[in-house]
Amino acid sequence: MTEGQQRAFEALWPHYGITLDQGPLPLASHFGRQAPVTLEIGFGNGEALAQLAARHSEQDFLGVEVHSPGVGHLMLTLAAQDSQNVRILQSDAMELLRHHLPEASLQRVLLYFPDPWHKRRHHKRRIVNQEFTDLIHRALKPGGVIHMATDWEDYARQMMTLFSQHSGFRNQAGKGTFSPRPETRPMTRFEQRGERLGHGVWDLLFERLG
Ligand SMILES: C[S@@+](CC[C@H](N)C(=O)[O-])C[C@H]1O[C@@H](n2cnc3c(N)ncnc32)[C@H](O)[C@@H]1O
Repeated sequence: MTEGQQRAFEALWPHYGITLDQGPLPLASHFGRQAPVTLEIGFGNGEALAQLAARHSEQDFLGVEVHSPGVGHLMLTLAAQDSQNVRILQSDAMELLRHHLPEASLQRVLLYFPDPWHKRRHHKRRIVNQEFTDLIHRALKPGGVIHMATDWEDYARQMMTLFSQHSGFRNQAGKGTFSPRPETRPMTRFEQRGERLGHGVWDLLFERLG
């Protein structure tokens, strides 16, 4: 980060940033109210999260990202649009899911364009695996939805297989079927770049059964 970015980061972090203590994250006290919470995992520069938060001031949004420049970028956007309904964690999403999210606390989870780790020997680093499906199931409220999108076909198929195998989810598009791109999913620079390169995009929406 440049010196200016560092200064902006330090000024804005107390407003938007939260840190993980021992035990469950007290979501309502961080947001100062009870409202449906959406978690975005790996928000990158935060374009999607900022757009959704601006569109839905009646909902709360929690973003988790490990990359500081992305966190800084999102905080600047949130400050510019005066969003009050977003909190940010600069942490490993798996740590959050394993140890800190209360059971049945989320209305929605967004996982847009996760790192594809396209070399076969690196597939084990992909965030979507069986443990991930179990942790998402635990964190969602019954009826809550995980929305995933990727521009890597074999990763899309892996997501489809793992979530279809889990008996606690229903594929909203029907068994084994990818969803049409929902208009509600904001376009990010990342996706635009993929489009220019001629990549396809696969959307998956799985709902937690009661
Ligand atoms: C390919 S980028 C996509 C960013 C964004 N979702 C978009 O669509 O533009 C994947 C992002 O996930 C973040 N990430 C990867 N593993 C993570 C983890 N375990 N916890 C939190 N963020 C993670 C990376 O830092 C990166 O910003």
